[in-house]
Amino acid sequence: MNNLGKFITLEGVDGAGKTTHIEFIKKYLSDLDINYVLTREPGGTILGERLREILLHDEMNHETETILMFAARNEHIDKVIRPNLIKGNVVISDRFTDATYAYQAGGKGVKDEKIDILKKWVQGSLQPNLTFLFDLSVDISIERLNKTRTLDKFEREDKNFHENIRQKYLMLAKLSPERFCILNSEKSIEKIQNQIKLKLDEVLR
Ligand SMILES: Nc1ncnc2c1ncn2[C@@H]1O[C@H](COP(=O)(O)OP(=O)(O)O)[C@@H](O)[C@H]1O
Ligand SMILES: [Mg+2]
Repeated sequence: MNNLGKFITLEGVDGAGKTTHIEFIKKYLSDLDINYVLTREPGGTILGERLREILLHDEMNHETETILMFAARNEHIDKVIRPNLIKGNVVISDRFTDATYAYQAGGKGVKDEKIDILKKWVQGSLQPNLTFLFDLSVDISIERLNKTRTLDKFEREDKNFHENIRQKYLMLAKLSPERFCILNSEKSIEKIQNQIKLKLDEVLR
């Protein structure tokens, strides 16, 4: 497949600031008259959003959870991501496959090798062009979460779970430095936005 558009993903532990910075990215793209779609995982399609409800609230076997994540992702790629990239649009997704490695492998102990198989099946050669990793200490992320919202199944997990996720994300970034842009989410929103802008200038212009 010949992708014309760029695929950008946002990753990080819960409360790291992904949703906060999506607003800034939207404005950046609109100001440049760049066509984009904003989407999220799990979700992004009608079926995917129904699976999201189940995934975020129902307890289940960890491998079942991993497979359902990829079922939602398959639908997402087929209905939203690929068609938009083919049209030349920028696709921005709040989480993608890195989150499955971080949460289901890093957090819950599903084997990387099993996720590799599903990834190859569902994604083929599709990879994000750029991944922003919002990184911050688990204590601060938990503090921010407790201040702002009712927690879902993943967000209610203990500190150790979140620490493992953070470390897994950092490991993934180390393995693909050309794709990842790590942002220190403990800095001010304005400082982070400046860094995002520089990176988007580099990738999109
Ligand atoms: N750099 C920052 N400094 C201070 N507070 C922040 C920062 N980034 C995000 N927040 C706050 O942290 C909370 C969680 O942010 P959110 O964007 O919802 O995270 P995520 O979507 O990654 O779970 C929000 O209340 C947000 O205003
Ligand atoms: Mg969010």
